[in-house]
Amino acid sequence: MNPEQQIQELTDKLNHYNYRYYQDSVSEISDFEFDQLLKELKALEDVYPEFRQADSPTQRVGGTITKSFNTVYHRYPMLSLDNTYNEQELRNFDDRVRRGLDGEEFEYICELKFDGISLSFTYENGVLVRGVTRGDGTRGDEITTNIKTIRTLPLRVKSDKLPPVFEIRGEGFMPLSSFQKLNEEMETLGENQYANPRNAASGSFKLQDSGETARRQLDCYIYSFLTDTEFFKSHEESLLALKSWGFNVSPGWKKVSNIDDVIAYIHEWEEKRSTLPLATDGIVIKVNSFEQQRELGFTAKSPRWAISFKYKAENKPAILRMVTYQVGRTGAITPVANLCDLTERALPYKDVKGVHLSGTRVKRATLHNANELLRLGLELGDTVFVEKSGEIIPKITGVDVTQRELFPTEPITFPTKCPECGSELQRNEGEVAFFCPNDSHCPPQLKGRIEHFIHRKAMNIESLGEGKIETLFDLGLVNTPADLYDLNEGNLLGIEKSILNEETGKVKKISFREKTVENILKGIELSKTVPFKNVLFALGIRFVGATVAEKLANYFKSIEALRSASYDQLVAVPEIGGRIAMSIESYFSVPENQQLVARLQAAGLQMESDEKPVEKESDVLDGKTFVISGVFENYDRDELKDKIEVNGGRILSGVSGKLNYLLAGANMGPSKLEKARKLGVTILSEEEFLAMIDNK
Ligand code: IVH
Repeated sequence: MNPEQQIQELTDKLNHYNYRYYQDSVSEISDFEFDQLLKELKALEDVYPEFRQADSPTQRVGGTITKSFNTVYHRYPMLSLDNTYNEQELRNFDDRVRRGLDGEEFEYICELKFDGISLSFTYENGVLVRGVTRGDGTRGDEITTNIKTIRTLPLRVKSDKLPPVFEIRGEGFMPLSSFQKLNEEMETLGENQYANPRNAASGSFKLQDSGETARRQLDCYIYSFLTDTEFFKSHEESLLALKSWGFNVSPGWKKVSNIDDVIAYIHEWEEKRSTLPLATDGIVIKVNSFEQQRELGFTAKSPRWAISFKYKAENKPAILRMVTYQVGRTGAITPVANLCDLTERALPYKDVKGVHLSGTRVKRATLHNANELLRLGLELGDTVFVEKSGEIIPKITGVDVTQRELFPTEPITFPTKCPECGSELQRNEGEVAFFCPNDSHCPPQLKGRIEHFIHRKAMNIESLGEGKIETLFDLGLVNTPADLYDLNEGNLLGIEKSILNEETGKVKKISFREKTVENILKGIELSKTVPFKNVLFALGIRFVGATVAEKLANYFKSIEALRSASYDQLVAVPEIGGRIAMSIESYFSVPENQQLVARLQAAGLQMESDEKPVEKESDVLDGKTFVISGVFENYDRDELKDKIEVNGGRILSGVSGKLNYLLAGANMGPSKLEKARKLGVTILSEEEFLAMIDNK
């Protein structure tokens, strides 16, 4: 078989397994075998890129970096839907439809309204050629490489009855399980967590690195089909055809013949929707016949043939039994409300199951910080109201003070000492959180720091995840990241531990067998080759996230230079402000931290950056600051950034009084432009900018 045939065969085979797995939930081969075949295909494609198929499954794992997304116009505008909140408004809609159709018979299709972001996909000759976000409805961002990571989206449709060009639309989302995993990861990294799955989906579809998008396991439910000339008679027909072509058509849709059945559908899904793998916030009702849809037409914003009905977020009373206090990696103290159902008032707290809310039992809700406790005016024993914001994260929305007469309450006193180590808590001026200052001995802080250290974006010691760090920490084998480098077969082999998950009540058994130990030690050894910027991030210095660490590593080039930098030298680094500078100074002044760095250095970690310094072409832009925004004709944003830097200029993150130039491309936000004008910042076109550096 020649390479072209081999590539073709592997592509078809893998697509077949993918289809069986995602459409029929059948695994015909193991994950391992699948990965082997995928690797084989990737290797062949790397040698013979000309034979790569348009529907190659290698695109699913991403890997391309898009520096800035192109803005493209939608062939058909992406409108929004009118909302209704009660039965009467729905009946009014039904009357309008009936009048609009002059009493003709009609049917509705009821669908769930998914809470993600709307996406549009274009297929030409059966091949997926483009994926675009809704944007402002008229034009959106072209994110084709990212949407190809959606495993349920066919890259090629095989059917002899396809229109040559068609567009489909659907709701891109992050399944709840992926959302929880992602936020846990963000927490370990000390990064901001996403408020809800919709924001997480939106952010993840627009990542520059499609490999990261692929890792986040996004999905999409398809709900519309569009062509220039009519292809189907009804929405129902199109949904059935899409399904038969292998699309992940939104589940649960139903054809009904009158508004009473629509209302019955709403009731049917009110509870059931919580069993779906994503958040839903209502239902969508669409007139089925395409001809009737055309008759009814559109208002400026939305179709007259469709409407949405929004469910009210379920809000229930619960009893505030206790407030517990969690200590995070950075020492921040988070109060957590421990709740029970009204019927569980007399039960010991350990037997409590919690309030039934949108399909799950809720026992805990974060109270964020001491100010939130004051704002809500809570007391122990209070009857509070709980809601799931974005249908996911439980939140206390208020308190029923009238119940205090019947059920006496007690004031809540925020602790003055750390619940984990007993240290006196502190609060920095201007910050809302109290924190435990004992960062070198407080257990959750120590453990959190090790978890951060091994993270994929830090030292990337994957073999130590899933409870192993906890085990090693609890056994006293690893107290600081440096202890990892003293581990050996002798002290690891044979360790066993059962870990109880308090939320689920499940017990997980961790055991260190030969293979596990070998992997752990291999992972630790390999981490010695991880670049300096990751090492710097891994140290977990407050306010030094991955991006700041990279900037510092590029600027100072070694831990030595960074450690001895003065405050003034630190703030001279572009985008490093006083808060970060102070945090770095204070980090290196602590003897424990000095020791840690010394031990890591002795263990052989990369403490110097081998990236070459920027070679300057000129100094025409010396001392000048720039912000780049919008889309440009000749260069992309990163290329322009490089041009600025090699000519001595600096990039700032936002428009402020300090800014000299705003390099403005097409489609940039009007508010930024306005702000720049107000502050007297010089606005440059791409041409003007290029002329500036050409005159050097
Ligand atoms: S149909 C003319 N069907 O809701 C608009 N939209 O407010 C046609 N959505 O932007 C959209 N589930 O992101 C439709 N089953 C569904 C939907 C749905 C969620 C979203 C969609 C749209 C928004 C409209």
